[in-house]
Amino acid sequence: MTDDEVFAARVRNATKAYPGVVALDGADFDIAPGEVRALLGRNGAGKSTLIRMIAGVDRPDSGEVHIGGSPLGDGGVRRAVELGVSTVYQELSLVPWLSVAENMFLGAWPRTGPRIDYELMGRESNEVLGQLGLHIDAERPVATLSLAEQQLVEIARAVRQNPKVLILDEPTSALAAAEVAMVLDVVGRIAASGVAVIYVSHRLDEIRQVADGITVMRDGRTIKTIPAKGATTQEIVELMLGGVTEAATQVTPIDIDRSGTPLLAVRDLVVAPKITGVTFDLHPGEVLGLGGLLGSGRTELLRALAGFDPIAAGHIEVEGERIENPTNARMKRLGVGLTPENRKAEGIVPMLGVDENMVMSDFGRVSTGPSISTGLVHRAATELVRRLGIKTARPQTPIADLSGGNQQKAVIGRWLHADSRILLLDEPTRGVDVEAKAQIYRLVRELAAAGAGVLFVSGELEELPLVCDRVLTLHGGGIRSELHGAEITVDNILAATMAV
Ligand SMILES: Nc1ncnc2c1ncn2[C@@H]1O[C@H](COP(=O)(O)OP(=O)(O)OP(=O)(O)O)[C@@H](O)[C@H]1O
Ligand SMILES: [Mg+2]
Repeated sequence: MTDDEVFAARVRNATKAYPGVVALDGADFDIAPGEVRALLGRNGAGKSTLIRMIAGVDRPDSGEVHIGGSPLGDGGVRRAVELGVSTVYQELSLVPWLSVAENMFLGAWPRTGPRIDYELMGRESNEVLGQLGLHIDAERPVATLSLAEQQLVEIARAVRQNPKVLILDEPTSALAAAEVAMVLDVVGRIAASGVAVIYVSHRLDEIRQVADGITVMRDGRTIKTIPAKGATTQEIVELMLGGVTEAATQVTPIDIDRSGTPLLAVRDLVVAPKITGVTFDLHPGEVLGLGGLLGSGRTELLRALAGFDPIAAGHIEVEGERIENPTNARMKRLGVGLTPENRKAEGIVPMLGVDENMVMSDFGRVSTGPSISTGLVHRAATELVRRLGIKTARPQTPIADLSGGNQQKAVIGRWLHADSRILLLDEPTRGVDVEAKAQIYRLVRELAAAGAGVLFVSGELEELPLVCDRVLTLHGGGIRSELHGAEITVDNILAATMAV
């Protein structure tokens, strides 16, 4: 047995350059069968790129990839799959109009003679879904599933292929605590059966629970591999950043003047099918958190407030102006900006530059007379890239070429550009690294201090105390509880969320 054969996967001295960026700079990586290895690093460190090399989606410019002792060479995805690599990519890749089963067997639909064997496909899909503890009907079109369910189906699809190497690139970013626990459980079981699992996540708690070792990447290099047990946040963050950084701390309560006209007033709002009566005020200067279980209707509420979905009853008021039937165009004019939870489907225009993706929220600000000025676009975009610390070769780079976390920052940049006074942020730190999270919290606080009102939705309960003045929890279609200042703790939010 040669050295390479001991490893389920091995990468040697891999380099990869894209125009203007060195994504991998001599990365080494190896993993043994049955091992769970976390891959950590700030946004743009090269994690997804390293994974694409192992999955055969892309080839390194130099260096080598071995799977189970065999060189991947020029074989691409097909060869990697043959060798037992199965991957859940950071951005969902299901085909929305096909069923769950069809997606799980994509590219390998079973046939009897010339006909696709739907029965077999359905049966086997249900089996895998069942093994993973998922109650999802295999015949449902994927488009009708929630984002979380889609993420779980992606995992089920990868597991179905009986991999030797299972790669999960941020598999839990759209999931809440209960589903995360399920995924971690599945990962543990799969590893126990001898599968090597590579696990990318920005959630350190999760990594400590599931991983044997942690490989930290920085600037395209694999800096160090340490045991996961006992690894402190401090130690990990220092390795990631190559130094110390500002830590996000609980918000110091400030006095918000709630006597004036609210920026946004929501009155007995009904949005089919989940919201059955929601009332609250959002004042200037306030960051209002929205907690609730997955499927509690937070996204629906935000979408209705942004004018994307119709209101069935009730009304909203923006600075005292009553609005019965908000349209998106009208709400935008009134200063409402939404960053959607599903970045890929709703948030970005992949082929356009980072610059255009940001300034599109308000072309007026970058126009002279009737025409858009490239000079003004460039200036505005450069400033936003700086303010948000977006890692991109140039402001004009297509946004699809950015790492996941950097795409997310650009989506937030859009509403900075529009100078929105009412910000509706749906999972704004999804896929964002620890340092950038702290930056986003600070930015949100700054915007509030300058007079904006922010509605902040997050399934990561830890972040609500770091950014919110007040937290409402949504339950059973309405507001169930309200927490202020020091009451905003993970335990309290959790208790309020779970309480029936
Ligand atoms: N197809 C591409 N074209 C141009 N640049 C790219 C491409 N893919 C990745 N890059 C660049 O390579 C660098 C590494 O990106 P990668 O996606 O590997 O980061 P990551 O560690 O996965 O980050 P994140 O945590 O944000 O997902 C980034 O600067 C990214 O913009
Ligand atoms: Mg990535």
